[in-house]
Amino acid sequence: MSKHIVVSNEKGGVGKSTTAVNLAHGLSLRGRSVLLIDFDPQGSASRHLRHEPTPATRKMILGDESPKRLAVEVRPNLHLLSSNVELADVRDYLAMKMGRDPESARGALAQALDGLRGYDYIVTDCSPAVDVLTINAMMAGDELLVPVSADFLSAVGTEQHLQTLKLVEELGSDIELGYIVPTRFDGRTKRARRILELLQDAFGEELVTNPIRVNTSIAEAAHFGKTIFEHAPNSNGAADYAALVETVDNER
Ligand SMILES: Nc1ncnc2c1ncn2[C@@H]1O[C@H](COP(=O)(O)OP(=O)(O)OP(=O)(O)O)[C@@H](O)[C@H]1O
Ligand SMILES: [Mg+2]
Repeated sequence: MSKHIVVSNEKGGVGKSTTAVNLAHGLSLRGRSVLLIDFDPQGSASRHLRHEPTPATRKMILGDESPKRLAVEVRPNLHLLSSNVELADVRDYLAMKMGRDPESARGALAQALDGLRGYDYIVTDCSPAVDVLTINAMMAGDELLVPVSADFLSAVGTEQHLQTLKLVEELGSDIELGYIVPTRFDGRTKRARRILELLQDAFGEELVTNPIRVNTSIAEAAHFGKTIFEHAPNSNGAADYAALVETVDNER
């Protein structure tokens, strides 16, 4: 059975795609078989792996093609189901379907992935919205990973996001809050340290992982279509993401 981790926060630019890509690649480097689902019409996760975004997820959900056939091996042990702007059509279609058949509208992704075997992990990168696509990801997932940029505003957004988690739980999802990942952390500032404490107080030290420090290599890597492990294996960014990978994999 795969463990399906959904990376989501409705706040934009907090490091969702960066975390999804580096987590997925880090797990694959440990010999795990990983499927990364880019579930954002922006296609950022695909580009981050130097893969031109395709409508694979759209075909999977609307065209009834199997994820096994649509997934592309982008690195050894790492397969990608890509998205591009056409995923927005799926969002509109599912939003329309909500009125007459809410259960199947919310469960379309879970349905498409049903019976998929052979992956140790599925990692899904969501868009910065609580829309029917994000709800679908949460309905399909086992664990929610919420990146939180270590600034005040994004910490507030996270609370709103957890309301959504409650909602999908009420709708029958089994997903659990698994990880709060502080990102863009600058330990030299009092504010960042304070936010880390606030997160630990609010969620418990168990749920809050080691922070991912601000690191220019992380942004550079994305720009070059590489993961941090490929672009700057000796950077702080690589060390921080390796620690996150270990935390996730050791819990399996
Ligand atoms: N730890 C970090 N240090 C420096 N830059 C970072 C770090 N994490 C992410 N970034 C940069 O911040 C920007 C936003 O990151 P990312 O695209 O992962 O966020 P996102 O939450 O997926 O955004 P969106 O909400 O648009 O999907 C990117 O340019 C990324 O390279
Ligand atoms: Mg993103």
